[in-house]
Amino acid sequence: MNHLAQSSKHLLDDSGSSSEYFHRFGLPGRAYYKTDVFEQEMRSWNHTWQMVGRESQVQNFGDYFTCTVGDQSLFVIRTENGSLRAFHNVCPHRGAQLLVDQGNCHQVRCHYHAWRFSLEGNLLGLPQSQCFPGIDRSAVQLRSAQVDTWGGFVFVNLTPTGESLQTYLAGFPAYLEQYDHDWKELERVDSWFYEEPVNWKFLVENYLESYHLSTVHGKSLQCFDPRNIQATITGRHYQICVGYAAQDSIKQHQVFAGEPQHKSYQGFIFPNWMVNTARDNVSVFRLLPLSATQTRFEVLIYQTRSQQTAFPYNRDSFRAEFDRVLQEDFGAVRLLQSSVRSQAYGVLQFAAGLEDGIPHFQRTWLAAFNDSSLN
Ligand code: FES
Ligand SMILES: [Fe+2]
Repeated sequence: MNHLAQSSKHLLDDSGSSSEYFHRFGLPGRAYYKTDVFEQEMRSWNHTWQMVGRESQVQNFGDYFTCTVGDQSLFVIRTENGSLRAFHNVCPHRGAQLLVDQGNCHQVRCHYHAWRFSLEGNLLGLPQSQCFPGIDRSAVQLRSAQVDTWGGFVFVNLTPTGESLQTYLAGFPAYLEQYDHDWKELERVDSWFYEEPVNWKFLVENYLESYHLSTVHGKSLQCFDPRNIQATITGRHYQICVGYAAQDSIKQHQVFAGEPQHKSYQGFIFPNWMVNTARDNVSVFRLLPLSATQTRFEVLIYQTRSQQTAFPYNRDSFRAEFDRVLQEDFGAVRLLQSSVRSQAYGVLQFAAGLEDGIPHFQRTWLAAFNDSSLN
């Protein structure tokens, strides 16, 4: 039994020796459908940095957007001095949600009893304050989270202090900066989402392996050369640098167009987002788990101004082609989800060189999962 299997057995296996065989590799089936596992793994996300939007959404004083990290609602807001702040979207008085969607405000005012807060999170006023004798107003604050940016993307971390974004991302920014466009200049040109009846980890694991390229995507992703994929572990994350096939048709690929000498810089940043560069655009996947067996899969498409000029975005044909690829993936992942309650479910072995990203992800997941049990 490998290390991963031993650790996961302790926390995840309640079925005794019957599943011994399946724990040679991989996580046990219950990691993909049990509600108690799901709730603990969502707690483990408290210590992760997650991409929640773009700086361009909060350019001016008072601009804000709300976002979700795991099962937690937050908002990000631009303060008067130009810095960004992130707060839990919860009123300290009795817990009402404070803001919805996105907008602009110079004070945060709770709709329930009209407590007001500065954009630094300090209490500014409360109606009928004589009803709160002895309240220490200076101690009443919105609960803050960390916020930082890279490449125009906004990231938050629910833990108010601790590991910086730069440390967390490890070598990933340097890897992505090989792309011949400035990440800060990307503008969102499209977005849509799916709700898939699968555990979020299966979607990650499917992204991390190239073994299925020729089987599941036999026709749709011929633009890539499966023999020219260089995968590299970077901290908690996984870089997947993909070479293009030596054929002229790749220049016309609707989604992932490139040149034969180009690379597509793809990769996974733990725990829930994936990035793919192409000649004409950057696509991002963001996973928002809704339950142990339901995941919202967001697709976000970005182009710089120069890409928009050179390769005008054609929404209908682009979506149709991208959807074709993703439906192939979703179909495969559903096959896995269908089996997780089976006594015969398990991973016999990961394909060396083709599925190495999965055990790395699972070890990272398990370390975070174990840590969260101490909270
Ligand atoms: S819950 Fe917000 S003011 Fe009462
Ligand atoms: Fe795929």
